[in-house]
Amino acid sequence: MNIEVVKNEIYKLKEEKKALIVAHNYQIDEVQEIADFVGDSFYLSKVCAQRPEKVIVFCGVHFMAESAKILSPHKKVLLPEIDAGCPLADMVTAEDVENLKKKYPDYSIVCYINSPASVKAKSDVICTSSNAVKIVKDFPNDKIIFLPDKNLGSFVKKQVPEKDIILWEGFCITHYKIKKEDVEKAKSLHPNALVLVHPECRPEVVELADFVGSTKQIIDFATASKEKEFIIGTEMGVLYSLKKLNPDKKFYILHPGMICPNMKKNTLQSVRDALLYERYQIEVEEEIMEGAKRALSKMLEMG
Ligand code: 13P
Repeated sequence: MNIEVVKNEIYKLKEEKKALIVAHNYQIDEVQEIADFVGDSFYLSKVCAQRPEKVIVFCGVHFMAESAKILSPHKKVLLPEIDAGCPLADMVTAEDVENLKKKYPDYSIVCYINSPASVKAKSDVICTSSNAVKIVKDFPNDKIIFLPDKNLGSFVKKQVPEKDIILWEGFCITHYKIKKEDVEKAKSLHPNALVLVHPECRPEVVELADFVGSTKQIIDFATASKEKEFIIGTEMGVLYSLKKLNPDKKFYILHPGMICPNMKKNTLQSVRDALLYERYQIEVEEEIMEGAKRALSKMLEMG
């Protein structure tokens, strides 16, 4: 089907249903283009909680739409592709958290937003890649279990050496592809470029970076910088905003495999269908909802 026809249908349906469309920085360009707001997990969770629209089409992966639903249970939150999941989020279960709590009763659980609602419900506070350091630093307990991402956890551990932090073994399969050698090679090819990476990268990659931040922080850093060339260590979707906001700057992706297969599932067609058929509605079990909302709201309060 013609792209312009689908776009026009989306705008018409959006108007009719008074819906809000948000897109994560990893979405395909066409989806980012039709969204009302584009950003990182933290920014989008705030936008969804604050905006008045009662229908939200969340162009991202399942845990993101689920977090929006938890923060606004009275809104209809739609995920265009219901099987857009996150392997990292699936690397920890509520039962794992229960076992950790028994083993380490005086530790607090700081849980990355890339996790299922059932895990959030058993955590003390949630964080995203943009506020993890602040949340761990400010949380009123020096003993922390950080889960599920061991790489973001190691980054936090380095920034907050005064705390005792236990890490879980999860990781993002896309960021994990970047190796130290990729950074060294990219630097030799582009000696004037700054290296900007996401904290889900391996610690040895983070070590070589000039800047470490969430997708939005990477975009904001490159946009504010006086430098003209950047090597980017995160999913390729960020190139959409980077190039749009900085037409005079050059961006080189650190690894050709920086494509999150789940984030790329949403298409213009599935966004149109999401609006038309009001699908796929995200629901959260009642007994999980309360605990997950408490942990997510704590993040908004602190972050
Ligand atoms: P952001 O915090 O930048 O949204 O990152 C989320 C994510 O899943 C990165 O892989």
